[in-house]
Amino acid sequence: MATILTNAVLATMAGGYGLIPRGAVAMEGGRILWAGPEAEAPPGERHDMGGRLITPALIDCHTHLVFGGQRAREFEMRLNGASYEEVARAGGGIVSTVAATRGASEEALVAQALPRLDQMIAEGVGTVEVKSGYGLDVETELRMLRAARRLGQMRDVRIITTFLGAHAVPPEYKGRAGDYLAEQAIPALRAAHAEGLVDAVDGFCEGIAFSPDQIAQVFAAAKALGLPVKLHAEQLSNLGGAALAARHGALSADHLEWLDDDGARAMAAAGTVAVILPGAFYTLRETRLPPIDLLRTHGVPMAVATDCNPGTAPMTSLCLAMNMACTLFRMTPQEALAGATAHAAHALGLSDRGRIAPGLIADLAVWEAGHPAELAYRIGPTPLHRRIIGGRLDA
Ligand code: NIG
Ligand code: FE
Repeated sequence: MATILTNAVLATMAGGYGLIPRGAVAMEGGRILWAGPEAEAPPGERHDMGGRLITPALIDCHTHLVFGGQRAREFEMRLNGASYEEVARAGGGIVSTVAATRGASEEALVAQALPRLDQMIAEGVGTVEVKSGYGLDVETELRMLRAARRLGQMRDVRIITTFLGAHAVPPEYKGRAGDYLAEQAIPALRAAHAEGLVDAVDGFCEGIAFSPDQIAQVFAAAKALGLPVKLHAEQLSNLGGAALAARHGALSADHLEWLDDDGARAMAAAGTVAVILPGAFYTLRETRLPPIDLLRTHGVPMAVATDCNPGTAPMTSLCLAMNMACTLFRMTPQEALAGATAHAAHALGLSDRGRIAPGLIADLAVWEAGHPAELAYRIGPTPLHRRIIGGRLDA
C-alpha cells in the first residue's frame, strides 16, 4: 500500500520552487508515486506532516569528506599573511593532508569522516559526493574510495564517489607531474574502476596543480573507461579549465571565480553545471566573485556545495553554503535551494533525484519551516524535522 504524506507545503523544485501550499506526496517501493494538491491525493496510509515544508533531500555534490588530520595551523599561517599558494609551495596545503591520509588505515579514515557525514545527515542531506585525492599513490587513493563506499553502508545515505588523483603533485614527484600521472594517478584510476569504486573523475586545473594538457590526459583515461568527468576550474586563476571540461562533456566545472565569457558559453553549450563553492571563497578570503550574472545570462545551471575539506572549506553545513551563496554571491534563496537539489543531481549526472516528481527516488527532507527561503536564510542550526530516504519514514 502507498504511504501518503499529507498536510505539507511542498517545494517540488519543478521550475523554481514548484510550491504546492497544501500538498501531499505518495510513495511506494522507495519511489515517489505522485505529488500534488492534498485534495487530489490517491488512497493509502496517510501521515499528517503538520503543515511542515517538504523538499527533496539535499544533495552535497562536491565534498572531500574522507581525509586524515586537520589544517588549523595553516589557517593561522594564512591569517598571518601567507597565501594559499605560498603555503602549498612550502609543502603545506593539500600535501600535508596527503601525509596524514597515507598514515591512516581505512578504519581510521571511516572513523574520522563519520562525524562529518552525520552532521550532513542531520541537515537533511540524502546524497553526498566524496572525492579521493589525498592519497596520490595507488594504494591510498583506493583506500580513500573504499572508505567512502563503507560510509554509505554504515548510514542511510547515498554516496557517489569521484576519483581525484589529479589533485596535487605529491612530494616524491615534485617537478614531475607527468610522471606522477603516468605512474600513479592513471594506474590508480584503472584499479579503482576495476574494483567498482569510481562514479566520476575529477581534477584540479591550476598553477599549483595540473595544466590543461595534463588534465586532458586524465580525461582521456576516464573516457576510455566510460566514466564521466568534472573539474576544479578557474578557482585561483583562469587557465581555461571550464572550457576544457566542457569540450570533454563534463558533468560540472567547480569553483569558477575566474570564469570568463568564453568559458561560460562553452559550459552552456555542453550542458556543464557550474558548482558554486562559497565556503572555499570565504575561508580563503577571496575577493573575486564567481560571475553569477554571466552564468544566468548563458543559462548555465548552478549547483551549490560545501566542498567540505580540511584546507579551504572546513565545513559540513550545506544550508550554510546556501546562505553564503546568497549573502556573498547574491544568488537568490530559490537558486541556492535548486543548487542543493535539482542542479546538484544534474552535476552528478543523476536524473532520479533532486526534485519531487513521480518515478524519482523517495528521498525527502521535512523541515520545521513554512517557506523554502528559510533554508538559505538561517545561519546556524538547520530546522530539519526528519529525513525520508527511499520512502522510509524512520531514516
Ligand atoms: O576544492 N581546490 C582544490 N581542492 C580543494 C582544496 C583542497 C585542500 O586545500 O585540501 C578545494 O578547494
Ligand atoms: Fe574541492
